[in-house]
Amino acid sequence: MMKQLPLLPLLPLLLLFSLLTGNSSACTKAVSKVISAEGTDVILPCSPSIRVNLQNKLFDWKKVGQGATQHEVFMWDSADHYDRHSGQSEQFKGRVSHFQNELQHGNASIVIRETKVIDSGSYSCFFPRQPSEKFCIELVVGASPEPYVTILDQTKDWSLLQCLVRGSFPAPKVEWRDSSGNILSAEEPQVSKTGDRYSVALNTTVTKTDRYQCVATQEEIKHQSRPAHIYVLLNGAASKPSVTILEETKDRALLQCEVNGAFPKPLLQWTDSSGNIIHAAEPQVSERGGSYDVILQTTVTKTDNYSCVASQEEIKSKPAHIYVHLSGEEPERSSDSGSPIGWIVLSAVLGIMLVVAGVVVYIKLNRLNNEMEKLKKTEERSNPPPADSAAGPMIPDHTVA
Ligand SMILES: *[C@@H]1O[C@H](CO)[C@@H](O)[C@H](O)[C@H]1NC(C)=O
Ligand SMILES: *[C@@H]1O[C@H](CO)[C@@H](O)[C@H](O)[C@H]1NC(C)=O
Ligand SMILES: *[C@@H]1O[C@H](CO)[C@@H](O)[C@H](O)[C@H]1NC(C)=O
Repeated sequence: MMKQLPLLPLLPLLLLFSLLTGNSSACTKAVSKVISAEGTDVILPCSPSIRVNLQNKLFDWKKVGQGATQHEVFMWDSADHYDRHSGQSEQFKGRVSHFQNELQHGNASIVIRETKVIDSGSYSCFFPRQPSEKFCIELVVGASPEPYVTILDQTKDWSLLQCLVRGSFPAPKVEWRDSSGNILSAEEPQVSKTGDRYSVALNTTVTKTDRYQCVATQEEIKHQSRPAHIYVLLNGAASKPSVTILEETKDRALLQCEVNGAFPKPLLQWTDSSGNIIHAAEPQVSERGGSYDVILQTTVTKTDNYSCVASQEEIKSKPAHIYVHLSGEEPERSSDSGSPIGWIVLSAVLGIMLVVAGVVVYIKLNRLNNEMEKLKKTEERSNPPPADSAAGPMIPDHTVA
């Protein structure tokens, strides 16, 4: 009781103040909520329960700003509406109008054009000469930017993903989900505020290869962003390409190597069976939802077993093989130095030369041996044989000479 006493003398003053500011009574009806998207026009509804012609009446729209400050939004006073007066808050100049043809039906609604986030707040529509009626409207002008996703860091076992939502109003709830829609546990979101807008960053670490998505939800305005997708490749499993023969004539074939939905962007390479890289056309790369489709075509002119490998960062895929048999290929046509036929001919010639040389040496040795035998026999006849003979080791010396 004691505490309330000092306020008593102020009561009439407070009442008067309230009347003047239009803040006199509480809202006469439940606060209605109006949601608008930034940049669009919005109607704030208001009409007294007794439908009187408002053409010659007075009504006033105010907005309660921060710290209970009031902004003039719009005033209608017998055809001399506030719009043309300096009392209107700068924020609303040129953007607010009433419905002229609706006035006679007791409709005091206004339209705010090209709404901004800053227009969000509590509005009141009231009739100063009928202070018992006051309509309250809560306007929320939503800004709903799409989330943006990136890989902050990655090893072969895990990947640190970040989802960023910039300049959102109201503050969004940001979530990471896997490809099946399960919500992933994430770190604490980092929320910052610039002016009226919120920016939220949410990190999560994933350990599986999957297509992940981030979604921003603004429950207050029943808005959910489109998901932002990101493909994460882990555990060294590069996507194996698929290979096809697109066209084939009797002396050439057009081969195609293709990888779909891969991330990071794969690099494709064609090789022949000896592992030589085959020159190919420029790859055709297209991106969708954060992953890549890559096509690499090449024309080959030889029968061989060709392979295509996809590399993603340091990881190489298993090769995809394709066997190309060209019916029109003439085996003897290739006479260039590198061709196997050249080598075969060369080896054959060398082989024959070796055989000939061998035969010649054999015949010569044989003759030499015969002569030595004869020599020995004549020596044996003249003088008797000694205990040791150095005849054997002397043979090579003779052959060389
Ligand atoms: C007032 O007029 C506007 C514009 O025609 C309309 O959208 C709104 O529903 C009306 N409000 C009422 C309470 O009749
Ligand atoms: C996300 O991770 C990066 C790199 O570790 C860090 O700098 C940043 O503060 C993290 N953000 C959040 C929201 O946790
Ligand atoms: C092509 O070579 C690979 C190994 O390099 C082998 O697995 C595959 O069977 C071969 N294909 C044909 C048709 O020779």
